Amino acid sequence: MRCYLHAVLLCMVFAVLSVLYAFNQLPVASSLESKDDGRADRRTKQSSGKQPHDIAWNIVRNGGGAYQKEHDRCNDALSVTYWNPYWRLSPDVCGMNCLLEPSPREKTASASVTKTHDERMHLAVVACGPRLEETLTMLKSSLLFSTRPLHFHIFAEDHLHGSFREALDSWPTVGSRFIFTIYQITFPSDNAKEWKKLFKPCASQRLFLPLILKDVDSLLYVDTDILFLQPVEEIWSLLALFNSTQLAALAPEHEEPRIGWYNRFARHPYYGKTGVNSGVMLMNMTRIRKKYFKNDMTSVLLQWEELLMPLLQKYKLNITWGDQDLLNIIFHHNPESLYVFPCQWNYRPDHCIYGSNCLTAEREGVFILHGNRGVYHDDKQPAFRAVYEAIQKYPLGGNLVQDLLQPLESRLQETKHTYCGRASHMFTKRLERSVRTLQRETTGGR
Ligand SMILES: *[C@@H]1O[C@H](CO)[C@@H](O)[C@H](O)[C@H]1NC(C)=O
Ligand SMILES: *[C@@H]1O[C@H](CO)[C@@H](O)[C@H](O)[C@H]1NC(C)=O
Ligand SMILES: *[C@@H]1O[C@H](CO)[C@@H](O)[C@H](O)[C@H]1NC(C)=O
Repeated sequence: MRCYLHAVLLCMVFAVLSVLYAFNQLPVASSLESKDDGRADRRTKQSSGKQPHDIAWNIVRNGGGAYQKEHDRCNDALSVTYWNPYWRLSPDVCGMNCLLEPSPREKTASASVTKTHDERMHLAVVACGPRLEETLTMLKSSLLFSTRPLHFHIFAEDHLHGSFREALDSWPTVGSRFIFTIYQITFPSDNAKEWKKLFKPCASQRLFLPLILKDVDSLLYVDTDILFLQPVEEIWSLLALFNSTQLAALAPEHEEPRIGWYNRFARHPYYGKTGVNSGVMLMNMTRIRKKYFKNDMTSVLLQWEELLMPLLQKYKLNITWGDQDLLNIIFHHNPESLYVFPCQWNYRPDHCIYGSNCLTAEREGVFILHGNRGVYHDDKQPAFRAVYEAIQKYPLGGNLVQDLLQPLESRLQETKHTYCGRASHMFTKRLERSVRTLQRETTGGR
């Protein structure tokens, strides 16, 4: 009898506890972004059923980390405290705590909290070799002006993981809130062995993103040597301009066919007149995963994962720039799938070293700077290096005019002996506007 009572009592305690737990989880579930954070949560639970299978496990672990990260931020940095009274927080910070804490802000903000969670922008980068600092500078630039929340998907060699985590954990949250997930360089789990035989992991990682990040709808992939000179939401908004057949957006490889590489040297098909550059690639991955692609291997249409292997088999002896060449071949056969954005979205030394040839950048300024060929780290193009070092030295949360714009402008004055230095007013044109817009917003909000 006593035993029975004990059991009943125990059951009741459990029932009460699980009700409490469910209540605790409710706001989390509704406030965290349903797709990826939900996924992270789910996978974390799965992982207790132990499936330590290379990639899957990695996503589990890191997915859990991403979830944890946001959670932490809400608890310490972003909750409503003495130091952070609610009126100083922008309405999109801190989904969970703000929903839980009864503050005046919560009532007006709760609708937009759920909305901004759906609007999280996904940014992916692949970092191999000595690219840590460069990648961190790129990520920092993505936070300078963006006000919408970001999710960084960082694919990096194992020895870099700790440093990434440490650096990102130490960043203050400025305008936009971010979470991050760090992944091993890896292949989709389905055919991992087959992929490994053919593809070099670091060089081909971005081709596999649609297959690895299966729950992410859209993604902006960038090379490590990219710098954002305006809010990320500007390029993200191009997704909405895709017509019904477009599934990715890229910039031309060259503006000037006379100095173009593909049209002079390529031994494989390529997109358009001069090919496309893959350093800044906006993808609707839902569409990539669904699409059946035309190709020159069979008359049958092939899905993305079926396409890559035969394509590399066929062209491996003829390609020079690796995965960018494969993308060019794919979009050569499927031109209706590509949205081409103009050169100021992916501005490279090629656009100015022989004189300026990116007309849209002359008019509107450079939106995204791409210092390929290592120009951030040598003295060949001091104007590119000046932008890189200005952003690298800028302390997040500092004064954008005094700590970023002014030092940059004086550095650029010293580069006027080069063609790109003479074009460098284009580098600061958009940057200046981004700074001014942000300042107007913050002072206007006071
Ligand atoms: C991507 O494409 C899918 C399918 O067409 C669509 O439902 C989704 O809204 C698109 N995503 C974005 C961000 O436009
Ligand atoms: C590779 O290049 C050679 C030499 O230009 C050419 O003959 C051959 O057809 C190319 N292979 C493919 C698969 O296009
Ligand atoms: C979408 O735009 C591309 C590029 O301009 C074009 O080739 C394609 O036919 C368009 N698709 C539709 C359905 O209009």
